[in-house]
Amino acid sequence: MISVEDLEAGYGEIAVLREIRLRVDAGEVVAVIGSNGAGKTTLLKAIAGLVRPRKGRILHGGTRIDGVPAHQVVRRGIAYVPAEREIFPHMTVLENLMLGAYAGRDRREKRSLLRSAYTLFPRLEERARQLAGTLSGGEQQMLAIGRGLMSKPSVLLLDEPTTGLAPMMVAEMYRQLHRLKGEGLTILLAEQQVPMALALADRAYVLESGWIRTEGPSARLLEDPAVRTAYLGVA
Ligand SMILES: Nc1ncnc2c1ncn2[C@@H]1O[C@H](COP(=O)(O)OP(=O)(O)O)[C@@H](O)[C@H]1O
Ligand SMILES: [Mg+2]
Repeated sequence: MISVEDLEAGYGEIAVLREIRLRVDAGEVVAVIGSNGAGKTTLLKAIAGLVRPRKGRILHGGTRIDGVPAHQVVRRGIAYVPAEREIFPHMTVLENLMLGAYAGRDRREKRSLLRSAYTLFPRLEERARQLAGTLSGGEQQMLAIGRGLMSKPSVLLLDEPTTGLAPMMVAEMYRQLHRLKGEGLTILLAEQQVPMALALADRAYVLESGWIRTEGPSARLLEDPAVRTAYLGVA
């Protein structure tokens, strides 16, 4: 579905990502784990077309998408949900959701996308007419994901969906992510919540200072002594 080959990307003179090789197959949930500053967001942004790679290739279904502008990447079915939850606070929940469904879809299709977003996040339906800025942090995150789903993506790029959420909301968010996985959605997830991310993901990549240090099936990484010491707090 997505493959990244020898990717190098950064900001101005600063190189952040180096020699990144990664793939996400259809129906897989893949996690990119790593501490703050490791380069997770830069990687998702490069795939989303928001950071231009300086080397390497990014392919979606066999077609190169590196260098393709972000709005066209979305049209290809790749939805990026930033950690900052860029919702529109002065618009209602419903209006925010409808912005995710791009023009050109007919009304019936939009209705059915809205129905699925509400089924996944019933709170959004309860708060449909409320201004988005008045939602709690967890609800805003649901809205950001719901809006991403309104573009009917084949791949969801999720950047730290639980940052800043209370533990109960973190657990609820993960229950919903498990549901999305159960529906067969392909997800690339960047996370610092390592145990929960590995419990959800089929495979994971450990990113450190812009390099992939290790990768493999989640079950194996959970047993990896270096991963356990660095990310699971196990001595
Ligand atoms: N817009 C930017 N301009 C310059 N440097 C940046 C920018 N965004 C991120 N960086 C730097 O890139 C590195 C990786 O950041 P980021 O991809 O956000 O990591 P993570 O998401 O894993 O925390 C960090 O050193 C960060 O300071
Ligand atoms: Mg980040």
